[in-house]
Amino acid sequence: MSSHTPKRRITMRDLQARTDAGQPWSMVTAYDALTAGVLESAGVPALLVGDSAAMVVHGHDSTIPITVDEMLPMVSAVVRGTSEALVVADLPFGSYQEGPGQALATATRFMKEAGAHAVKLEGGLSVLPQVEALASAGIPVVGHLGLTPQSVNLLGGYRVQGRGESGQLLMRDAKSLEAAGATAVVLEVVPEELAQQVSEILSIPTIGIGAGPGTDAQVIVWQDLLGLTPDPAPRFVRRYANLRDVMTEAVGRWVDDVQNRTYPAAEHSYR
Ligand code: KIV
Repeated sequence: MSSHTPKRRITMRDLQARTDAGQPWSMVTAYDALTAGVLESAGVPALLVGDSAAMVVHGHDSTIPITVDEMLPMVSAVVRGTSEALVVADLPFGSYQEGPGQALATATRFMKEAGAHAVKLEGGLSVLPQVEALASAGIPVVGHLGLTPQSVNLLGGYRVQGRGESGQLLMRDAKSLEAAGATAVVLEVVPEELAQQVSEILSIPTIGIGAGPGTDAQVIVWQDLLGLTPDPAPRFVRRYANLRDVMTEAVGRWVDDVQNRTYPAAEHSYR
């Protein structure tokens, strides 16, 4: 009998089990097949095809412009580039706010056309009907509270959320999301004490970004993690590489070699 265990996708239940066992886990954004494969090989169990693609892939100055049709091919690519990681598709601005019907239609496209395993949407009380509809349809839903970038115009900028009394509202929203059927909730740029309290009160995993060390999981944009985005990085980012410098230096050498005719050399040519 073979001892080979076939690979299978990590599920939200697996991630819940890690949380129940007190094991922190990681989520990283991914937008293409190759990078997704590298992140999976490095041991990342959950990949988020974030609407941050609007900024780090498409060059917009907010997440608002990106469309479902722009995100679908990225989700498909990330699914194709991986075999074990759970792939979460972010529902873009304007693709779920109208109500449960619109949310279900959009999420269905991400699941059927792109093969996503879960979806994420932003907001608290206002999106509870959407969360309930998706959960009833068997779609794992990740909530997103705190700094919700799709509401940047209302929030007045990318700033800390949940300070003072608004922390109680965030706590209420988090509990309501769990009750509505959310399987996890992202907490973005909130005070660490608040994130810790929410994590203690909820049974589902909390996934922090700029929320301190007390959440059950951490999520990060890969270009921030690996130093491809320009400085200054947000306070919560620790750079684990400096890809911007690595790429600039390497491509610069190639440009020089082309100019000096030292590339291509004999071994790169066909006879
Ligand atoms: O779009 C995104 O990348 C996100 C994460 C930062 C949580 O929502």
